[in-house]
Amino acid sequence: MDLSSSRSQLAFLEKTAALLGCSLVDQKLALFLDETDDLKHLRDCFYVPKIKDLPTTNHTIANMEDDCVYLCGNSLGLAPKKVKTYLDEELEKWTKMGVHGHFHGKRPWALGDECIVQLMADLVGAQKEEVALMNGLTVNLHLLLLSFYRPTASRHKILLEAKAFPSDHYTVESQIQLRGFDVAKSMLLVHPRKGEETLRTEDILSIIEKEGDSIAVILFSGVQYYTGQYFNIPKITEAGQRKGCFVGFDLAHAVGNVELCLHHWGVDFACWCSYKYLNSGAGGLAGAFIHEKHSQTMKPALTGWWSHEFNTRFKMENKMKLSPGVNGFRLSNPPILLVCSLHASTYFSLAKNWKVAPRFLHGFERTLTHSGDTMIRAKQSIGQ
Ligand SMILES: Cc1ncc(COP(=O)(O)O)c(C=O)c1O
Repeated sequence: MDLSSSRSQLAFLEKTAALLGCSLVDQKLALFLDETDDLKHLRDCFYVPKIKDLPTTNHTIANMEDDCVYLCGNSLGLAPKKVKTYLDEELEKWTKMGVHGHFHGKRPWALGDECIVQLMADLVGAQKEEVALMNGLTVNLHLLLLSFYRPTASRHKILLEAKAFPSDHYTVESQIQLRGFDVAKSMLLVHPRKGEETLRTEDILSIIEKEGDSIAVILFSGVQYYTGQYFNIPKITEAGQRKGCFVGFDLAHAVGNVELCLHHWGVDFACWCSYKYLNSGAGGLAGAFIHEKHSQTMKPALTGWWSHEFNTRFKMENKMKLSPGVNGFRLSNPPILLVCSLHASTYFSLAKNWKVAPRFLHGFERTLTHSGDTMIRAKQSIGQ
């Protein structure tokens, strides 16, 4: 059965509930879905908090010894069990060989990010050379906009969602100000229609069509942090580029959650954090993507020693030989402890299977969260 859309996922849930003779929010349905899930063994790869250890719990409706039902992966993913092992490996190396750890062992620190970048590239549908693991999400968004946002008198606007995540909103505001433009004239926000919460693709496309000649950059989220709307990335990209705009995406809520094909869709740039559906821990190492087509032409505005290509980086001659593409945007040596926790994310080992499971979860979470009433009843029925 095709479960690629929210509608088909809901239809599947309704059909299964009908077969079991129960409602959508009956515990029977949840237990049945758990039991028949091909990936259920993966639950054991994570530490699931016990209800008794959570700071706010209602003793009268919950069994304190149970695992909690964790629906907060959109904020912070649970800890993978492998994380302690991977961290210990590098701590052990540090204590045993000090500085030699930079070029020895399973994860040479100087190449730590590069040891796992292919796994990340697979997840976002990109080539290895198109992805870098560095910094935090907001920092990467700034670094990318410093190069992709080149405002001129006639093309100076940035188009984004009216209720973009605050950090994205502030990033765009400050980028416009940094270039000496007026936020009121250069920041173009797309609002939902009156009485609606999500944006219609047709409305986004029509703004691009109307305003495109004055838009320098279109910046959307892949999945909207508040409404859960999964934007039509290929359509927005195609429409923006047809009008001569650069098109980029914040994939914080999309990576590890929905299928992404950044290279194939021709997206110009993207960035994401890794502590939500990628379970890398709070403040984990973020990702950035620049399409191969820009690898020779799009240069970083700011550089550091890690922007220099690897073979001559340590000659210390102070003559920059820039790595092509997104690798030239790296500034500092990679933080190995953050690399470990990102590596531990079981989603990486799921690369071949993930397309089915997270999409289904995404639809199910949306089904629940779209109705506060249903959510409360669902929580009651599962004892939370
Ligand atoms: C959509 C989105 N953008 C930006 C951020 C900010 O990320 P960071 O604090 O890692 O820079 C978040 C964090 O939750 C987010 O959800």
